[in-house]
Amino acid sequence: MGNDLKQLIYCSDARKAMDPMALRSILDLARTRNAELGITGMLLYSNAHFIQVLEGESDVLDALYSKIANDPRHDHVRTVMSLSLKARDFPNWSMAYRAVSEADLQAHPQLNDFFSPGFDEHSFREFASPARFLLLAFRDIEGE
Ligand SMILES: Cc1cc2nc3c(=O)[nH]c(=O)nc-3n(C[C@H](O)[C@H](O)[C@H](O)COP(=O)(O)O)c2cc1C
Repeated sequence: MGNDLKQLIYCSDARKAMDPMALRSILDLARTRNAELGITGMLLYSNAHFIQVLEGESDVLDALYSKIANDPRHDHVRTVMSLSLKARDFPNWSMAYRAVSEADLQAHPQLNDFFSPGFDEHSFREFASPARFLLLAFRDIEGE
């Protein structure tokens, strides 16, 4: 059953703060590759922390995730959630992207937890559907 649909969320810390060009190059490649692989999702970046939601066929997703987890541009990669899906939460995004600013965090104080260094899978258990929570929380933030 290796081709079931699966969703995975991880958090990580950028090795060094990413400038817009560095983020752009991650995103451009991710979008091209993900479109080929049938991977969808969303990447959030704030203050040298990443959160990424990845969705796709389980085998494909596992292979991609092990590549991403070994990427030297970030470390302390921790899986916060992994579940099988009936339908994708991000069907139309090969990789949606939001740069989350201080102003965004102030406007959405509930998001501060997601970008704190101590955020891990235990924190995520409070949310019944973390990807949906993130999606709704970031819907109103300017993205691309
Ligand atoms: C935070 C972060 C998120 C990434 N997301 C993706 C992604 O969604 N899809 C993808 O193909 N690569 C992504 N990458 C890049 C991969 O780690 C890897 O560099 C890329 O797939 C190129 O692999 P290759 O060396 O086999 O060509 C991401 C990297 C980082 C640091």
